[in-house]
Amino acid sequence: MFGLKGTKCTPVMRGLILWALLTNIMLSVYLSIYLLCHYINRGYQEDTCPLSMAELSKKNVTTHFERSKSQSEECSPAVNIMFMKTHKTASSTILNILFRFGEKHKLKFAFPDGRNDFFYPSAFMCSQVKDYRPGECFNIVCNHMRFDRQEVAKLLPPDAMYITILRDPVDLFESSFHYYHRAVPLTWRINGENKLEEFLNNPQIYYSAEAYNSFYLRNLLFFDLGFDNNVEADDSRVMRDIHNLSKHFDLVLIAEYFEESLILLKDTLCWTMEDIIYFKLNARKSSSVSRLTPEFRAKALEWNGADWRLYQHFNATFWAKIERYGRERMKKEVNELRRRNAEMKAICIEGGNAVEAQKIQNNRFLPWQPVGESSILGYNMKKDIAPKFRTVCEKMLTPEIQYLTDLGVSLWLTRLWGWIKDTIFTV
Ligand SMILES: *[C@@H]1O[C@H](CO)[C@@H](O)[C@H](O)[C@H]1NC(C)=O
Ligand SMILES: *[C@@H]1O[C@H](CO)[C@@H](O)[C@H](O)[C@H]1NC(C)=O
Ligand SMILES: *[C@@H]1O[C@H](CO)[C@@H](O)[C@H](O)[C@H]1NC(C)=O
Repeated sequence: MFGLKGTKCTPVMRGLILWALLTNIMLSVYLSIYLLCHYINRGYQEDTCPLSMAELSKKNVTTHFERSKSQSEECSPAVNIMFMKTHKTASSTILNILFRFGEKHKLKFAFPDGRNDFFYPSAFMCSQVKDYRPGECFNIVCNHMRFDRQEVAKLLPPDAMYITILRDPVDLFESSFHYYHRAVPLTWRINGENKLEEFLNNPQIYYSAEAYNSFYLRNLLFFDLGFDNNVEADDSRVMRDIHNLSKHFDLVLIAEYFEESLILLKDTLCWTMEDIIYFKLNARKSSSVSRLTPEFRAKALEWNGADWRLYQHFNATFWAKIERYGRERMKKEVNELRRRNAEMKAICIEGGNAVEAQKIQNNRFLPWQPVGESSILGYNMKKDIAPKFRTVCEKMLTPEIQYLTDLGVSLWLTRLWGWIKDTIFTV
């Protein structure tokens, strides 16, 4: 092996090694690929995927739904979907739902090539899509990206549904700090027990808009959605961008109300309850979640002011939607979803609950871990599952990376990074 695992590296040495590898290997590899793709695809400028192609793929898709649920008399299930996968927002669970739906109905995903995101944090370009040719239509786009609506629109028929999910910016910031701070070199100098609080006390010392990976630590939602994450909350661009977004997105989910979100999703897409049953994926063990005091919550809110305004705006539109849907009806549907989830849990999951990474017996179900940690929980699948449930259990429990591989995506770059991260940092 690499010979570093287990040796006593000082944090500074580890940092230097990580830094060297990051810049020299990863960056140069993916920047050169990126520039090459960019260069090859310059000159092609389609505005959306052609209607004629979209109609054809729709016909092909709808045949898969024949003789399906009675619901189809009133509406037909949406198959063209842009899911803007934001970071640290329970979006992995939604991805699993989309993977299962797409696989079941033989839909065409626009996947990245070599990795599990679209050259994040670079802005999305349709040329980053695996096997993309100008004029090609896809059904579902759902991997991490930095959003660019015009580029995404080139891949999808005009009737595509645009969906995303937001989370309370304070909790999101806490989670993102936990998950990514080791990948943000400016935070390596933070001393003391509670790095998060130290950061919030002096963000101007530990943060710089231009520093490598710094977007993880400020207004990450704004950044993911393609906007400037370094604007102050009272900047007029914030509300302009929020309104722009609300024009383009059909549904914005709220992670704090996850079940209600899924019911609205089902309603918007004309899907069935079966389509949205889920197990919570990529959850963090509670001991690694640091609860912020009210004082630090307020600081985190102020620091992530643009995200806070974004969240409040869409929390309001979300509840307006629930009001229109009917509170009582929503309650009933949520209960039904819970019942179905519990039923599947009893069928599929050994011990009935998520367990720590070390206790996961089958690597197939082992989720991706943050740098230098193993705080993300996963599941063990029961061994004696009735044959008719085996496949669905397996799919519901499969983490993103493994599922992408099953769907035919090559992930050599992601795996290389995983190997580097696990070799240098003793997990
Ligand atoms: C639709 O199906 C036909 C025949 O099965 C095939 O030739 C065509 O390429 C398909 N179209 C798309 C967009 O997948
Ligand atoms: C909205 O965003 C798009 C790109 O996402 C941009 O081209 C357009 O100028 C924006 N409109 C406004 C009013 O800001
Ligand atoms: C979101 O909206 C609900 C319903 O109006 C409200 O109870 C809740 O406090 C809001 N959350 C935030 C963080 O504003």
